[in-house]
Amino acid sequence: CGIVGYAGARPALNIVLDGLRRLEYRGYDSAGVAIVGTELLTTKRAGKLANLEKALADEGNAALGAGTTGIGHTRWATHGGPTDRNAHPHRSFDGRVAVIHNGIIENFARLRAELEAAGVEFASDTDTECAAHLLAQALQGAVGDTPGERLADAMRAVCRRLEGAFTLLAVDVQAPGVVVGARRNSPLVVGRGVGENYLASDVSAFIEHTREAVELGQDQVVLISGDAIVISDFEGNAAEGKTFHIDWDASAAEKGGYDYFMLKEIAEQPHAVAETLLGRLNEHGDLMLDEVRLSDQDLRDVDKVFIVACGTAYHSGMVAKYAIEHWTRIPCEVELASEFRYRDPVLDRSTLVVAISQSGETMDTLMALRHAKEQKARVLAICNTNGSTIPRESDAVLYTHAGPEIAVASTKAFLTQLVACYLVGLHLAQVRGVKYADEVAAVVAQLQEMPAKVEQVLSMMEPIRELARDLAEAKSVLFIGRHVSYPVALEGALKLKELAYMHAEGFAAGELKHGPIALIDHGTPVVCVVPSPRGRGVLHDKVVSNIQEVRARGARTIVIAEEGDEAVKPYADHLFYVPVTPTLLAPLVTTVPLQVLACEIASARGHDVDQPRNLAKSVTVE
Ligand code: G6P
Repeated sequence: CGIVGYAGARPALNIVLDGLRRLEYRGYDSAGVAIVGTELLTTKRAGKLANLEKALADEGNAALGAGTTGIGHTRWATHGGPTDRNAHPHRSFDGRVAVIHNGIIENFARLRAELEAAGVEFASDTDTECAAHLLAQALQGAVGDTPGERLADAMRAVCRRLEGAFTLLAVDVQAPGVVVGARRNSPLVVGRGVGENYLASDVSAFIEHTREAVELGQDQVVLISGDAIVISDFEGNAAEGKTFHIDWDASAAEKGGYDYFMLKEIAEQPHAVAETLLGRLNEHGDLMLDEVRLSDQDLRDVDKVFIVACGTAYHSGMVAKYAIEHWTRIPCEVELASEFRYRDPVLDRSTLVVAISQSGETMDTLMALRHAKEQKARVLAICNTNGSTIPRESDAVLYTHAGPEIAVASTKAFLTQLVACYLVGLHLAQVRGVKYADEVAAVVAQLQEMPAKVEQVLSMMEPIRELARDLAEAKSVLFIGRHVSYPVALEGALKLKELAYMHAEGFAAGELKHGPIALIDHGTPVVCVVPSPRGRGVLHDKVVSNIQEVRARGARTIVIAEEGDEAVKPYADHLFYVPVTPTLLAPLVTTVPLQVLACEIASARGHDVDQPRNLAKSVTVE
């Protein structure tokens, strides 16, 4: 979910709505605002932000437009369907407070039963509503010199009773000018303005107003007013946040002439890859990570690597496995973060766990990381969001410099995750003496050619777009690949599922004959990602055989191959060439046509490419 709060001298409504617009990628099942002026007013609607905006325009309530304190929420539903009544904010039984929430309150059933026994009537099916009622109860006995301090005191009392993960923001009609927030296992940052302050799930919500931000710690409560930011722990002890400066360009969070953020982000990939590579080698040719709280000796001691991630980030981890094992000779496993800790993986001090996450807030990945730390493993994060929870809790961090990624389906973050994974593999190889600095520098030089190659792929996408329009009505699309192209096939299929709501599956090409080939019928589109014929020639020939096998069963073959690969021509109904690239680095170019394909099929089918149904960009619940 996306959360925004504002306290200052300007009318809050438009500031809150602007913030929500920038956070809408975090969830769009419903949206709502609460504004405090002379009274506390709330408006909320199921569906996208546009529904809320229309409702606000229809209401035309001047008081809503005038209040200078406000909170707003865009929801990704967990408890209770995406309806008006389940939309946030939720009001307390006495109407005094309004609360918005991100996360899951795990003991909500018990709390709800207790409140109902005390005669409180619930207006929604959400876990959040409990927090609103508890807050109103706690306010009755709250201490503090000002109404705002009493609201913060009551919030602390409520937080002590809540289990699970939450970011909460609350406003109180008796404390105009104040927003109180709290966080446990769920993101919340403060934006420090002049005569005004902000709260938000991430900095993009307030970046056009201020670049000064304060990071809250775990289990903290914050009170903001126009001129103060007061942080405490849940017990009421004063605490300090960590101040940081946001160096993102505000325009990076705008569409900049493209119809969709996704199209813009696809186009930004050459730049994102280049940025992620920038300045990584020091004058001795040693690779530099961003924040390393691990010694070279720690890295030499590593005898096993586990990569944990979700969704697209997981696919980048699958590619990383090939590179890391090949370059370092250390066994490397990749696992879905949501599965990792539940099977009791074997971890110890000499295990390196690499957590890959664009947002740095994905709860499944965070929990996998914490489990790894409990078992004394070392944790390295690959992340795109400065100061987010996953890098903060890791022993070392390598930031991808993709810039803000707004479209829910990940594109430029994926490519930069691949780059970061290659760098981690090379760094490990170098520190352990498996590769010399000049060998590492040679691969880095190959990586440095990749932005131009990605650019070249992007300039050749028109035939893919045409094909996409032709495939828009297909029932199902299959993707096959071997070696590093296998995760690329999975990623191509995931993109199509996410965006076009089509049945799509990726397979290891060699596995096809063991079952999935039965899916192939006359005309079934099969996207085949073919490895370079140079280098691992056997691999190439095996995939060419697989293409023939599917074609013999009626498939319509869409072949992505390396420039100059003549061998695939007779078996390709559609052939798209990508530039010559070393095998391990090929996913940086072969993924791009699959992104464009999915994006175009989805828009041909009339879908909202940036905000596909049922999804959210950063999923901060398990
Ligand atoms: C969500 C998004 C996916 C993303 C995954 C991991 O499910 O919809 O696009 O790949 O989370 O996100 P992360 O921020 O951890 O990379």
